[in-house]
Order: sequence, then structure tokens, then C-alpha cells
Amino acid sequence: MVILGQGYVGLPVAIRAVQAGFDVVGFDIAKDRVERLRSGKTFIDDISDDDVAAALATGRYLPSSDSDDLSGFDIAVISVPTPLRDGAPDLSYIEQASNTLAPHVRRGCCVILESTTYPGTTEEIVVPRLEAGGSLRAGTDFHVGFSPERINPGDPIYGLRNTPKIVSGIDKASLAAVTDFFSQLVDEVVPVSGTREAELAKLLENTFRHVNIALVNELAIYCHGLGIDVWSVIDAAASKPFGFMKFTPGPGVGGHCLPIDPSYLSWQVRRSLGQNFRFVEIANDINDHMPDYVVRRATSHLNAERKAVNGSRILLIGLAYKRNSGDARQSPAITVARRLADLGARLRAVDPLIDPHYVPAGVELVECSDAEVASADLVVVLTDHDQVDWTLLERYAERVLDTRNRLRSPAADRL
Ligand SMILES: NC(=O)c1ccc[n+]([C@@H]2O[C@H](COP(=O)([O-])OP(=O)(O)OC[C@H]3O[C@@H](n4cnc5c(N)ncnc54)[C@H](O)[C@@H]3O)[C@@H](O)[C@H]2O)c1
Repeated sequence: MVILGQGYVGLPVAIRAVQAGFDVVGFDIAKDRVERLRSGKTFIDDISDDDVAAALATGRYLPSSDSDDLSGFDIAVISVPTPLRDGAPDLSYIEQASNTLAPHVRRGCCVILESTTYPGTTEEIVVPRLEAGGSLRAGTDFHVGFSPERINPGDPIYGLRNTPKIVSGIDKASLAAVTDFFSQLVDEVVPVSGTREAELAKLLENTFRHVNIALVNELAIYCHGLGIDVWSVIDAAASKPFGFMKFTPGPGVGGHCLPIDPSYLSWQVRRSLGQNFRFVEIANDINDHMPDYVVRRATSHLNAERKAVNGSRILLIGLAYKRNSGDARQSPAITVARRLADLGARLRAVDPLIDPHYVPAGVELVECSDAEVASADLVVVLTDHDQVDWTLLERYAERVLDTRNRLRSPAADRL
């Protein structure tokens, strides 16, 4: 089998498929990534060097950027990026991956799209490209399906194997082929009636989180104005055993999913129906403004000490977009850092996990030490990695703005 894209999503699938006994070509156009994998090195948190080395040692895992290695495939999984470009879905990676696969499509093979995208992509974008230039027809001669990835980087409990996997196909035979493949990789598959429904299910999951995070973010802003502790409010509400799901506020949303996927949905609703998906618009608006709100809170903190942001030394705790991850794609912490830098702050940051290429210019990565914290005019907690020395920070709580409710000391200024 072949997997196009060896990133956060494609690499874990490749490693799991090798473990399940498949011969796997991990195809990626990024040659440096392929070279790294070939030398047994990972670049994502959830897969270790040992995992990659073990896969290579079986002789059944071939990281490659040579499209000739795709020939003769029986199953292909497409796990390539789906970013936004000027607010609209950019499906060029899916188009390119489908074009690359097309010459290798054979009778009886199965192509599965895993990238998150808007409903209709599998049938309208992938199928015509796989059929182009050949006589084989999707459904009649080969199978095509969609199965969204639900990977949650850094999650110690739910991984690829024990997270139920939605599967779908353009017809019954395709659904059976996709189900058969993923049943060998994961404990539970969830068949869905069609590819559009499966595509939309993934967008619903992420839009649900996006909207609920926006709800508690807006609540946090109003609670601060009202002098009410939002964290106690949420904990109290979460004691209800039904009809409530706990979400917590923070400096905004990041990663490859929440800042992007809901906009795929609203874009398609606008394109097809000429309507605005209001929940998505509002959630985008609130979550996008959270970094500005954090900067405002940091400014008033310094103001209370008769200090300006300009020239103040600010220590940021965490730059990644989520706890215990080194991923800072679209991280709101990076936006906060840039805004504070624009205002003239002298910035240093503690993040034991961050991939250094994400660290913005003008921000110095430092260790979390007594001296570092003591010399900061303000500490701003943006990401609550377990590896940070929280006890040390609690000693300086009066000078800490905690956007994650990680500090237990009452003196900490919490979001
Ligand atoms: N990261 C997550 O937590 C997550 C979770 C669920 C779903 N997704 C979705 O999965 C998809 C992939 O995301 P990701 O995080 O793995 O992205 P990524 O950037 O980590 O990896 C994508 C890889 O695809 C490669 N690529 C690009 N074009 C290619 C082509 N034509 N052929 C072969 N390889 C190609 C890139 O070089 C890159 O290595 C996206 O649609 C994303 O929304 C991501």
C-alpha cells in the first residue's frame, strides 16, 4: 500500500500499517522529510525514532519521493495538507496527489482520501483526476472512499488505534474496501452512508469544538469585566452529568484544524447556498481576537505597575498551540508574541518542546529558572506543557498572567 503525505497524519498511519503487516510506501514530495525518515528519525511528537527504526527494520516501510514507487499499489491513502488561501480552501495538494496517483491506478485498487476537506471533494476533485487519461472508472473498476483522520497530537489516551474511524465510499463496494483496510489498523470503524456525509462529519466535529471554545472565550472576557471567576463557573457547570460538555478558554485556537476546517464549511455554504454560516463567522471572530485580548490584559498588568509594554521584559511560557506538543502552526501564542514584539516588549520564551523554527524573530528561547522569572516584568502563560516548572512560577504569581488556569496560587491573574 502507499500513503501520500508523511506528516502529522500520514506518518502515524504508515507506521501503524507496517505494524499491521502491510508493505508500505510512505510517499512525500518533501525530500528532506523522506531522507530524515529513511535515516530512522521522526519529526512529530506522537511517533518516536524507535517507531520509525522498527518500521524500517521490517523491510516493509519505504519512505520515498520517487513516484515510480507508487506503481502496483493496491491501497492508497492521501494525507496531504488542506490549508486556506485568501480565506478559501486550497485543494491544490489533493489535486496534485490525485494526479500523481492516476497513472498507477489499477483494476481493483482502492484510493482513500484522509485530508480534512469540504463535502464533495472526494467525488468532485479526486475521482475525475484518478480517471483522467485512462479507461478505468471509479466504482466500476476501482474503489474510492473518504476516511477522516481524528488524530489528537499529544493525547496520552486516544491514538490512531483506539479512536473509532469513520469510513465511507462512493458506492457499496468502495465502502467495503475502505472498511476492510481500516479494520486492520484500528479497533473500531464507523461506516457512514456516503463520502459527503463523512467529509461533513469531520467538519462538524471541528466546528463544534471551535464554536464551544469561542463560547467560553467570550464568557471569559465578560466574566473578567463582571469580576466573576470563569474557571469556577465552568467547573460548576461541568458537574452536570448530562447536556453539558466542558470546554476551557485560552489565548485563541491554533494548529492545522480549528483555525481552518470550520472555514471550509462556511466557504462551501456561501459558495453553494449564498448564505453565511453564522456560527462559524462568530466563532472565527471571537477566537481570532483572543490574542489581542491577552495583549490588552498584559498591557493593563504592566500599566498597574506604571510600566509600558515598550521596553518591558516579558517571559512567555509556551509557544506551541497546545499542551505537550511542539507544534506551533497557527499558534495563538505566536500571535501574542508578535503583537507584544510590535509594541516594543523584550521577549523571552520557555517552551521545552517547540520546534525552534517556529520561534518568531526577536524572541529568545530560555530555560525556566528563578533568575529568568525574577527578572521578567511580566510572565504570560500561553501553553501549559507538563514539563514546565509550575511550582517555580507560583512563587512569582503576582506577576503572572495565566491564560490556561494552570497556576494554583490565588495571586495569579487568570484569564
Ligand atoms: N495534524 C492534525 O492534528 C490533523 C488531525 C486531523 C486531520 N488533519 C488533516 O490531515 C491532513 C494532513 O495534515 P497534516 O497535519 O498531516 O499535514 P502535514 O503538513 O504535517 O503533512 C502533510 C505532508 O504532505 C506532503 N505533501 C504535500 N503534497 C504532497 C503530494 N502531492 N504528494 C505527497 N506528499 C505531499 C507534505 O510535504 C507534508 O509532509 C490535512 O487535511 C489536515 O487538516 C490533521
